Amino acid sequence: MKVTWKLPDGGEIAADVKDGINMMEAAVANNVPNVIGECGGNLSCATCHVYVDPDWMGKTGAADEFEDAMLDVAEAPRQDNSRLSCQITASADLDGLVLIVPEV
Ligand code: FES
Repeated sequence: MKVTWKLPDGGEIAADVKDGINMMEAAVANNVPNVIGECGGNLSCATCHVYVDPDWMGKTGAADEFEDAMLDVAEAPRQDNSRLSCQITASADLDGLVLIVPEV
């Protein structure tokens, strides 16, 4: 699937991501700034926080209760479209996904 990260400086990074890879791993592999993934995708750091483009929120779904709790401690302000990107997994359904990288 193709994913695009919109960066705080107005730039964009686009990449093809294999199914099953999560969006934190994909961001790190593509040198997306501000997405760190300190805990390796174990829902315990919130350094993989991103904003989902509003057009894609219906497809990515909502955060579960653990992710929801972790979003409260993310460094950048939480918004309605906040997600932890390690909890979004690449699949054909998400082809074209757009994620917005927070300023930290
Ligand atoms: Fe730590 Fe996502 S990588 S919560």
